[in-house]
Amino acid sequence: MSDIGYYQKWWREPMANYLDLGRTDVGLSQNAIADFKNQVKTRYIPGWFTIVLWDEFFEGKPVGYIRYRKVEWNKRRTEIAIRLGQDYWGQSIGQAAIGELLAYLFFEKGLEEAWLKVASFNQRAIRLYEKCGFIETGSFMDNDYPELTWKVMSIHKTKFARISP
Ligand SMILES: CC(C)(COP(=O)(O)OP(=O)(O)OC[C@H]1O[C@@H](n2cnc3c(N)ncnc32)[C@H](O)[C@@H]1OP(=O)(O)O)[C@@H](O)C(=O)NCCC(=O)NCCS
Repeated sequence: MSDIGYYQKWWREPMANYLDLGRTDVGLSQNAIADFKNQVKTRYIPGWFTIVLWDEFFEGKPVGYIRYRKVEWNKRRTEIAIRLGQDYWGQSIGQAAIGELLAYLFFEKGLEEAWLKVASFNQRAIRLYEKCGFIETGSFMDNDYPELTWKVMSIHKTKFARISP
């Protein structure tokens, strides 16, 4: 949890919140931070795991996080999510990080499908997921904001194995 300071910084970036959560009215409450710490500490959500990206080029500074959660072992699938600090967008770090995480999930954890949800206006993220081999498998309207729709995107292990270098 020594990286929590970085997380708090990324969670305060308004543009990233907008792209990630599809809304601007979400603040970083103390409760949310406590909740996050508790989930990590107690592993309340099975399979919650955080990778902080490090790179010598960035002199060992964490540049973002990627995680998986809500593992459905019976279906061998899990949800993933990613966020980079705004300074690090557009440098293919997202693609590299997702590739690493998928290799870990499919070849070490024995999972067979990864899925995610993305705001349908978040073109950079959608392009990233398409580059990584995800395809759209569904969509739904946001509960609170009917004008906001979410895409569900998924990738199966067999496709990942086929397209990975
Ligand atoms: C989404 C995010 C993880 C992407 O990571 P990244 O390292 O910036 O992504 P990459 O550089 O690997 O790839 C982005 C791709 O989108 C393209 N792109 C950028 N802006 C775009 C736009 N407005 N429309 C379409 N494509 C766009 C880039 O050109 C690149 O594709 P290319 O390699 O074919 O040129 C990162 O930008 C981020 O953390 N954003 C804020 C939080 C967020 O949106 N999280 C995802 C929630 S689902």
